Amino acid sequence: MAKSPASFSCSQCGAVHPKWAGRCDACGGWNTLVEDAPLASGPGSRTLGGARGRRIALSSLATEEAPPPRAGSGMEEFDRVLGGGLVPASAILLAGDPGIGKSTLLLQVAASFARRGLGCLYISGEEAPAQVRMRASRLGLSDAPLRLGAETSLRDILTTLDAERPDLAVIDSIQTLWADMVDAAPGSVSQVRSACHELVSFAKKRGTSVILVGHVTKEGQIAGPRVVEHMVDTVLYFEGERGHQFRILRAVKNRFGPADEIGVFEMTGAGLAEVPNPSALFLSERGQSAPGSAVFAGIEGSRPVLTEIQALVAPSTLATPRRTVVGLDPGRVSTILAVLESRCAIPFTGLDVFLNVAGGMRVIEPAADLALAAALLSAREDVALPADMVIFGEISLSGALRPVGQAENRLKEAQKLGFSQAVAPERTKAEPGEGMRLRKLPDLVTFVGEMFGAG
Ligand code: TYD
Ligand code: MG
Repeated sequence: MAKSPASFSCSQCGAVHPKWAGRCDACGGWNTLVEDAPLASGPGSRTLGGARGRRIALSSLATEEAPPPRAGSGMEEFDRVLGGGLVPASAILLAGDPGIGKSTLLLQVAASFARRGLGCLYISGEEAPAQVRMRASRLGLSDAPLRLGAETSLRDILTTLDAERPDLAVIDSIQTLWADMVDAAPGSVSQVRSACHELVSFAKKRGTSVILVGHVTKEGQIAGPRVVEHMVDTVLYFEGERGHQFRILRAVKNRFGPADEIGVFEMTGAGLAEVPNPSALFLSERGQSAPGSAVFAGIEGSRPVLTEIQALVAPSTLATPRRTVVGLDPGRVSTILAVLESRCAIPFTGLDVFLNVAGGMRVIEPAADLALAAALLSAREDVALPADMVIFGEISLSGALRPVGQAENRLKEAQKLGFSQAVAPERTKAEPGEGMRLRKLPDLVTFVGEMFGAG
């Protein structure tokens, strides 16, 4: 057989290139292209070689089958992110920065499932069994009927899984796996891809659910989780600030449930503790009302979550003033600064702007626009907003306020947490409960006039 021509993939975004280049055209990453190892011929071979395939069985859309039974781990925050529990034969990728707590979370999850009677295997390619056992005893999980393995050879892992047929297998991590049929270093794009492909096919064929851990990597030779996201059913990201104890588990893709659902955890000395009421937690650090702080009534997945948006505006010594944004979309922030300048005549030129969401939360809803603008204005004017006020609404480029979904849930959550005023766009359908005052405003100019007494 003729040698197939070499191809290169980007270790950051996975784009395939016929030639090596210093920069990936698809994602713009520098020095990220690595040569793909040729696949050995056999089942994984790409060429069809003229051989005829088998005819596949086709079926109709109508089905009598009941939806698959889901298994609950008993950890509510985890089950909700999966869409109500673990679906049999599903493939899940848990991605996150190194050291964020992925192994801790999955050890707790696997132990909970094992205690509920599921056959569970935890295979670590990074830690020795003694290390995992030590962590388990620290977390109070030693009595769970979870079986451990330490292995990096994909072939041995597949053979073990085939013999054991567990309900759930946790593989920590895909970057450490080594497939001997692929001629490349562990952690390279082709290794990670083929290991993931084999494990996902195993899950589908044998009915075992697999959870794969993937480290997010910034650059270099090691392939990040992005290159396998399309192969799995569910992609979960485990996020949080290193300095903070809060961790957020976010579903970014889910074939068996809603995406954008979040679960909130707190990293404690005894592992990850679930946080059933995240709003109270995110607002717990809030002191007296101060300039630059606005409370946003947001929705994360199916739940309302209140967060505090903090802004600081200071004179800049730089030719291009700083725009430092943590936990919010920087593009959105630029847009709102431009709208404030053009529609409300409130410029931020010559001013450094710092924006942050308290508690390490990330807010991606456009509904946060108005709260973001309120925090910026409050910081710039040095006027504190009322401490008992929540804000939500989208800002259009014309400066008009657009109503957002689930207004009633947002207001209810705010009221539950003791807030008694809300500001929302004019066409918001919901009405507040008794004891809460809702101001509905048509545009940003009116908002500025009402809050800061200038237009
Ligand atoms: P780990 O789960 O090993 O992270 P990952 O698998 O994502 O690389 O977690 C590492 C961090 O978690 C480590 O810095 C210590 C901290 N930790 C706690 O604070 N409490 C605990 O009970 C455990 C097990 C870990
Ligand atoms: Mg780990």
